[in-house]
Amino acid sequence: MPDTVLNPLDDPSADPFEVAARAAEDIARLTGVPRHDIAVTLGSGWGRAAELIGETVATLPATEVTGFSKPALEGHVGTLRSVRTPKGAHVLVVGARTHFYEGHGARRVVHSVRTAAATGASIMVLTNGAGGIRHTWTPGQPVLISDQINLTGASPLEGATFVDLTDLYAVRLRDIARAIDPSLQEGVYCQFRGPQYETPAEVQMAKAIGGHIVGMSTALEAIAARQSGMEVLGFSLITNLAAGIQTTPLSHAEVLEAGREAEPRISSLLADVVNAL
Ligand code: HPA
Repeated sequence: MPDTVLNPLDDPSADPFEVAARAAEDIARLTGVPRHDIAVTLGSGWGRAAELIGETVATLPATEVTGFSKPALEGHVGTLRSVRTPKGAHVLVVGARTHFYEGHGARRVVHSVRTAAATGASIMVLTNGAGGIRHTWTPGQPVLISDQINLTGASPLEGATFVDLTDLYAVRLRDIARAIDPSLQEGVYCQFRGPQYETPAEVQMAKAIGGHIVGMSTALEAIAARQSGMEVLGFSLITNLAAGIQTTPLSHAEVLEAGREAEPRISSLLADVVNAL
């Protein structure tokens, strides 16, 4: 289904950072909050965190902000929220994610991250629902992302833009998260293009090359966040064991159900972590 309004990011001559700067101006104007300190993208299962992080100052449909795409999933209205924590930090909560599998290109995928940076955010917290490769993990378990393998074949960086990813998921932020919940385990996130789930052979490949988590988001966003100079923290909710690790077939309904069940617990963990950053 084509967008009815041309997205400025689809113009190849547009500068994506200039579009992000315009989006940040929209957010400042529509929320009345001139700058944000932290941004949090809420993936499957993490949705309840927005109201736990602090007091909502304003909620906007993402479609009112320059460059944001229409939601891919029917019935899922993407929103941006400005939340004020009890300590007075301003958190931009992004409930509108564009996935690479939608086919609109990496620019659109990372627009929310670049916009977050343009609002002033210096920390980007990325969350998702994903499949677990470790046998010992169980659906409903949150894990910290320690590093990533980008298997999409794409990059949000354009031209000869060499960005160091040695400390992509900042040790400093992971230490803060583990201080809140010492039982948090860590793993390497592998982003596949999707939207099909992986085959068991692809999951075995991901395992052989050092992956522990398989998903369809986050890796491209994390790269863009580092390019913009933000520190990155990543969480996956294990909604299912990856294909072939669990013997039963995967279904989107199962993923959503695991998310719903874990939501209260993991959302409160996320809110506690954000308040400690
Ligand atoms: N693979 C990829 N993406 C996912 C999965 C999975 O097993 N579960 C939830 N999102």
